Amino acid sequence: MTKKKQDKWTKASWRSFSAKQQPVWPDSNACEETLKKISQLPALVFAGESRSLGQDLAEVLEGRAFVLQAGECSEDYDRCHGPYIHNLLKVILQMSVIITYAGEKKVVKIGRIAGQYAKPRSSDTEKVGKLIIPSYRGDMVNSPDPSPEARVPDPRRMLEGYFRATATLNLVRAFTKGGYAALDQAHAWSEASVKSFPANPKYEELVRGIKKAIAFMDAIGIKNSNPDLNQVSLYTSHEALLLEYEEAMTRIDTTTGDWYDTSANMLWIGDRTRHPEGAHVEFMRGVCNPVGVKIGPSYVMDDIKKIAEKLNPDNIPGRLTMITRLGAEKINFLLPPLLREMKKEGFNIVWICDPMHGNTYINRHSQKTRKYKDILKEIINFWKIHQAEGTIAGGVHLELTGDNVTECTGGSLRVQDKDLRLNYQTNCDPRLNAEQAVELAFKLATIINPYLTRGV
Ligand code: PEP
Ligand code: CO
Repeated sequence: MTKKKQDKWTKASWRSFSAKQQPVWPDSNACEETLKKISQLPALVFAGESRSLGQDLAEVLEGRAFVLQAGECSEDYDRCHGPYIHNLLKVILQMSVIITYAGEKKVVKIGRIAGQYAKPRSSDTEKVGKLIIPSYRGDMVNSPDPSPEARVPDPRRMLEGYFRATATLNLVRAFTKGGYAALDQAHAWSEASVKSFPANPKYEELVRGIKKAIAFMDAIGIKNSNPDLNQVSLYTSHEALLLEYEEAMTRIDTTTGDWYDTSANMLWIGDRTRHPEGAHVEFMRGVCNPVGVKIGPSYVMDDIKKIAEKLNPDNIPGRLTMITRLGAEKINFLLPPLLREMKKEGFNIVWICDPMHGNTYINRHSQKTRKYKDILKEIINFWKIHQAEGTIAGGVHLELTGDNVTECTGGSLRVQDKDLRLNYQTNCDPRLNAEQAVELAFKLATIINPYLTRGV
């Protein structure tokens, strides 16, 4: 760690700053005991893996790789089971093969997985029938059940979160390193899913192209001589919201002597907690993991500059990612000045697009939803703006699931408002289902590489 970063930082120094969105635990002794237990448990990820992610992100900065960051809005303890995790990984890997082929670049895969258990909320309370009860704040804090008792924060849930993250990560590692995620397997899934879309010659053309590329690698012996093709890397990430938990997971890396938050490879600070003088920025400035910052439409330019200076004083490429979530229309006037200013100041920033959080609304049936077409539009605009500004569109940050939920409207299968009740499962934000997600990858492929399907 460089001198600048060491200044007065400790893993607990955030405690003297104002920390937004923290639960008030009714039992402070239980909280202390739990945190002590967590701080003695093994790291979930190795510092070396987080450093590799930083190097991969530096490649994104140079335009040599894309980021696909995807997963749950909020992981539920109930959904911590094999088939559910398989389905999610399957979708992420399919999307990644499609984007790799289209972009002819490496895809850096980062899950919102194995720790995305705490949520910031816009209101402290919510109305259920006639009752006003505390808001659900993620499974690490309270339960989504709609009763006042269930919503009391229980610190022991943090320990349960640690173990659920461990179980999830164990399966993720087995799945990604054990051969199940081999390239031809991921392609076979895409081939199967293309059949579920109403005939689209562009998608079919893409899938045929990928098949040919794999056959070619086979023919010249690359596949057999390269066991790496049977393995993929999927990094983990979550919002570093619950600072007590993140502090308990923060350790010194014995190889480098640097501090790492070992709860995930990448941590991000949410739009609601990224105040430059706040506790979240203070905490994250001292750990060496790659860090993300969400930027919503109410951003103040000076704040963003201060955040960049604090989080990355040495301007290390790959250390800082900014995840814009501005909305399909607002992006047109809010992103260009931000890109210009940060470029003028010389900040090294990986820019990625979260097309979900600026496009959420409540429909006439009081359901929180998002339109597929708005999500796509924000991505298209993001790419166009980067091209016009001469900056790098680094990738996307999505909320999705491998299951057949009905939470976002639109897509080829034309999910409508009236269909949402059929399988609306989320306790938090609406997610793309597996088909909508794979379809978005096909679209993204044609945005990244418009020549790919030209003439089809
Ligand atoms: C989220 O990523 O689920 C989230 C709450 O995002 P934001 O901080 O951008 O609102
Ligand atoms: Co969300």
